[in-house]
Amino acid sequence: MNIAEMILHRRSVRAYRNEAVAPETLAALQERMAELVPLIPGAKVEGRIIPTRHGSFLQKWATPHFIVIFSEPTDDGLLNAGFMYQQLDLYAQSLGLGTCWVGLGSLEGGEPIPAGMKVAVMMAVGVPDGVARRTGAADFKRKAMAEITDWPDERLEALRLAPSATNSQPWFVTHAGETLRIWREELGLIKQRTHGRMNKIDMGIGLCHLYVTHPETFRFFREENPPTLDGQIYIGSVTL
Ligand SMILES: Cc1cc2nc3c(=O)[nH]c(=O)nc-3n(C[C@H](O)[C@H](O)[C@H](O)COP(=O)(O)O)c2cc1C
Repeated sequence: MNIAEMILHRRSVRAYRNEAVAPETLAALQERMAELVPLIPGAKVEGRIIPTRHGSFLQKWATPHFIVIFSEPTDDGLLNAGFMYQQLDLYAQSLGLGTCWVGLGSLEGGEPIPAGMKVAVMMAVGVPDGVARRTGAADFKRKAMAEITDWPDERLEALRLAPSATNSQPWFVTHAGETLRIWREELGLIKQRTHGRMNKIDMGIGLCHLYVTHPETFRFFREENPPTLDGQIYIGSVTL
């Protein structure tokens, strides 16, 4: 399966075998990490495969591998981290690996942090322990199409199915002719504290799903005088 097809079949894997991924598969991941396409080329993102013991996580994952994703400490850095590493999530799952984004984790064991960057997020990766792929859209717990857009649009199905922190699905899309305007749900003060940073990564993940389903034509840009929409923050515009 290619990565666009994986959108319908991927899931967060939280049960892993305590077993190393084959060296050639790790090498394939490493190679792919060097080829991830950015949404915003100037916003720096870097990933590294680390041993699980070099991180501290709330959940105890049996897999020996994690990927730590660094970004410049800006909103665009987080957006880019989601956009780039969701390509890796889909690729890893297409190889039969399990993955799970991990929002709450920190580094231990002297792992260096690239200059001018911070840990944005991490991703568990490993051999799934008896976790089956999804069989199709009916297998997802997601908002209905009508809740994520002003106009039902089957091109947005890939966005609808995208993963997000605590399954919060912070995206909303409005149509302006050929242009899709992409919005992030504005959070109240308390939720902003717990979900704000992760929701910026989520937006990159959702945009990644639009990109991988329209790889030849996807274009992201920001309008000069962005419109406003009550309760929403303008992220950018897309044509597909
Ligand atoms: C940025 C981000 C952070 C996440 N952090 C965690 C986490 O710390 N622990 C966890 O078990 N799942 C985490 N998840 C996984 C989400 O809970 C999951 O993607 C969502 O519930 C949808 O389920 P699915 O990925 O199986 O489609 C995270 C997902 C994203 C996108």
